[in-house]
Amino acid sequence: MAILTVTNLDLFYGAFHALKAITMMIEEKKITAIIGPSGCGKSTLLRMFNRMNDTIENIRITGEVCLDGKNIYNMKTEREIDRLRRKVGMVFQRPNPFPLSIFENVAFGLRIHKKAKGQVLKEIVEASLKAVLLWDDLKHKLKTSSLRLTLEQQQRLCIARVLAVKPDVILLDEPCSSLDPIATRRIEELMIELKKQYTILLVTHNMQQAARISDDTGFMLLGKLIEFGQTSCIFTNPREKETVDYITGRYG
Ligand SMILES: Nc1ncnc2c1ncn2[C@@H]1O[C@H](COP(=O)(O)OP(=O)(O)OP(=O)(O)O)[C@@H](O)[C@H]1O
Ligand SMILES: [Mg+2]
Repeated sequence: MAILTVTNLDLFYGAFHALKAITMMIEEKKITAIIGPSGCGKSTLLRMFNRMNDTIENIRITGEVCLDGKNIYNMKTEREIDRLRRKVGMVFQRPNPFPLSIFENVAFGLRIHKKAKGQVLKEIVEASLKAVLLWDDLKHKLKTSSLRLTLEQQQRLCIARVLAVKPDVILLDEPCSSLDPIATRRIEELMIELKKQYTILLVTHNMQQAARISDDTGFMLLGKLIEFGQTSCIFTNPREKETVDYITGRYG
């Protein structure tokens, strides 16, 4: 079943047409990868799903992005948009833990939204750290600064911070690009584990990564979604010449 649907989406940064007539459906509890050369609009598209483009000046958006059938661009109140951002969490390229303790990083969203405190908060922090396989290593040092963790641990912590607010969808923008191959592999395994419970949208430059772990793949070029479909088809039997050129390494 589709959890997110994009219909005829166009986005302009001033006069620059960055997303062109994008239409796609994101299936629930699957990993959908977005690939394409630098500057094709992957991050711009990803940011559409929790309205992170909203604050950019001179931006113009037309078309629809629906979450569970509701157009998120019709949401007007801060309360609705806060709720959307809890339901659709984001993890960035460089791990960005806050300069706070491990515990406070995971608790952050729940504290600011006043969603939990005391024992309940502790339990959610523990469950979130368990889900990203950090609990056993870190349970005795929850008060330590998160900035002392390895990059891989920091990225796991950022994922735990998103999980703590109980999202439905997790957006990841090149989450492994600052990690070594072994850490990358382990984060990939984590994503496969997480898709049992969450819908995952993954922007990646790494085609092997898209081929290894995603169910569906979209290939973008110059703001257009050139091809979208099952990952196995996109990589073995693509329809479009541009897709063939990209996956065989002719550009990008
Ligand atoms: N805030 C902005 N204002 C104006 N133009 C922008 C803005 N953000 C992105 N762009 C432009 O929009 C296009 C798409 O950018 P975007 O960051 O979405 O690409 P990308 O596919 O994520 O690239 P990369 O792989 O390098 O991360 C690029 O040409 C970029 O220069
Ligand atoms: Mg990007």
